[in-house]
Amino acid sequence: MRVLVTGGDGFIGWPTALRLSRRGHDVLIIDNYFRRRVISLTPIETLNDRIRCWHEGYVEVCIPLDGDGPPARLEILHPTSPGSVYHATKVLDQTLFAFYAKNYGLRITDLHQGVVWGTQTEETREDDRLINRFDYDGEFGTVLNRFLMQAAVGHPLTVHGTGGQTRAFINLNDSIACLELALAHPPQAGERVKIMNQMTEVHRVRDLAELVARLTGAEVSFVDNPRREAAENELSVTNTALRGLGLKPTLLADGLLSETYDIAQRFRHRAEADKISATVRWTR
Ligand SMILES: NC(=O)c1ccc[n+]([C@@H]2O[C@H](COP(=O)([O-])OP(=O)(O)OC[C@H]3O[C@@H](n4cnc5c(N)ncnc54)[C@H](O)[C@@H]3O)[C@@H](O)[C@H]2O)c1
Repeated sequence: MRVLVTGGDGFIGWPTALRLSRRGHDVLIIDNYFRRRVISLTPIETLNDRIRCWHEGYVEVCIPLDGDGPPARLEILHPTSPGSVYHATKVLDQTLFAFYAKNYGLRITDLHQGVVWGTQTEETREDDRLINRFDYDGEFGTVLNRFLMQAAVGHPLTVHGTGGQTRAFINLNDSIACLELALAHPPQAGERVKIMNQMTEVHRVRDLAELVARLTGAEVSFVDNPRREAAENELSVTNTALRGLGLKPTLLADGLLSETYDIAQRFRHRAEADKISATVRWTR
């Protein structure tokens, strides 16, 4: 298959491109290097050097959208209510995907993804020049990787608000496995967009902080929440479609947290202390 990986220099795109290339797909990467303006804890090579190290390759794009609307003769998108500009762009994506599937018969799978944790994959581990990026800063870093990095540098774990936010999570390796499954099982031309929940488990943020604190001895610090979001929420989400296609999830309980902690320990000398706490306020 010919695969275009947009954002293929990023945290998820890079290891995905390598995996698809390893599986024999022709992979093309598109990236404007925007993310390279943000420091990665791990030292990452230029994309050219990464690719030189891997060898020539290409990737493909898989687009996500959502599905289970109310039963009706006319299928409409389930109304979504974004809480940030970031999430609003995902909502706009949904409308575009539905349009292209309906009007042009494009076969689109919309992968709704939980927070991705982990750093390395089989391929990125093969050579330090292939190492994946690791975002730990208050704006771009995601919660679990941030906690593990904070523990590694001796910073208290920064729980935003009460830590009652309940979120879906998925390991990076599973995220890539899901994308491979989605590529292998596309909808038919003329079908509506296929929407799959790419997540493997659900956790409350303060529970994650306690888990990391227990494993590492770190302190937990509750700080003002810079984001506009519900202080406490329940989340009910299923991933039966992907499990039905054969996904075997990697769960936090499987001990893989240590892999990310080891990476954070190894590169903690590169951490910039003033980047650790969130500085952008989403509430004004
Ligand atoms: N990381 C997560 O936990 C997570 C969770 C859910 C969804 N997602 C989604 O997965 C996708 C990838 O996330 P990521 O964590 O790898 O982020 P990332 O920032 O590491 O990767 C995104 C890549 O896209 C590139 N990029 C940005 N704007 C571009 C443009 N206009 N043209 C070309 N390239 C551009 C960036 O330079 C970067 O390399 C995003 O759509 C993100 O919203 C990520």
